[in-house]
Amino acid sequence: MRLDNRVALVTGGARGIGRAIGRRLAEQGAAVVIADIDRAGAEVAAKELEVAGWKALGYCLDVSNSGQVSVAMRSIVQALGSIDILVNNAGIVGEEHPVHEMSDEQWHRMMDVNLHAVFYCSRAVLPTMLSRKWGRIVNISSVAGKEGVPNIADYAASKAGVIGFTKCLAKEVARYGITVNCVTPGLTDDTEMARSFTPDQRASKVAKVPMARMATPEEVAAVALFLASEEASFVTGAIYDVTGGRSDY
Ligand SMILES: NC(=O)c1ccc[n+]([C@@H]2O[C@H](COP(=O)([O-])OP(=O)(O)OC[C@H]3O[C@@H](n4cnc5c(N)ncnc54)[C@H](O)[C@@H]3O)[C@@H](O)[C@H]2O)c1
Repeated sequence: MRLDNRVALVTGGARGIGRAIGRRLAEQGAAVVIADIDRAGAEVAAKELEVAGWKALGYCLDVSNSGQVSVAMRSIVQALGSIDILVNNAGIVGEEHPVHEMSDEQWHRMMDVNLHAVFYCSRAVLPTMLSRKWGRIVNISSVAGKEGVPNIADYAASKAGVIGFTKCLAKEVARYGITVNCVTPGLTDDTEMARSFTPDQRASKVAKVPMARMATPEEVAAVALFLASEEASFVTGAIYDVTGGRSDY
């Protein structure tokens, strides 16, 4: 799984699942850029990796801003030579509302951060990956995008969009040494999303899981690491569940 001489960029890497992914990639030798809208959080997460003896850089970036993404990717490639691995992990959850009560603002913000950003970031790294004939794009979607969940149609639709985008882009770039895959976690512990639920809500979500617990960020990171590695050389356009058996297809 060694990722020596690879540059990886993890969006939303300041905390939660993204932070665990950044750690796994860094410990395997990649230079890891933690790109997050939370500047202080990105710097702390990068510092933690550096203190452990690995290569890391914190970068303040709002992935929902197309112009900012283009500038950031260009300057990171200039500084570090390439971006070989992109993990599109940054994401938000909105308030729960039935569709007939959901505002335009909530819907559009969700699409901007969870779906449009995946397009902006992927588009911006593709020229360097195409020129090097090697690249890994790993998109963090959600089981909600496969199953549908009432009152979060915005979130589930954005995550279903990420799955569709993954499959299209994977086919587009398959002949150029670039793989594009997706991870669909279920409820994952030690994240803001898990903390946002009441104990009753958490219990009802865990009740859907055959393994009867939440995922850990490290379990999601392990799958992302595999997809980012040389080991996954013939895997593209795939959707990997990390749901403890919840997802049926
Ligand atoms: N936690 C879960 O149970 C769960 C389940 C399935 C899928 N996911 C997905 O996993 C990913 C990570 O989730 P998490 O639970 O670790 O989230 P989190 O809220 O703990 O962390 C998300 C990170 O993204 C950053 N971020 C938010 N908006 C951003 C923006 N516009 N630009 C850049 N960074 C931004 C935040 O600052 C934060 O550091 C998300 O895409 C989420 O939808 C999470």
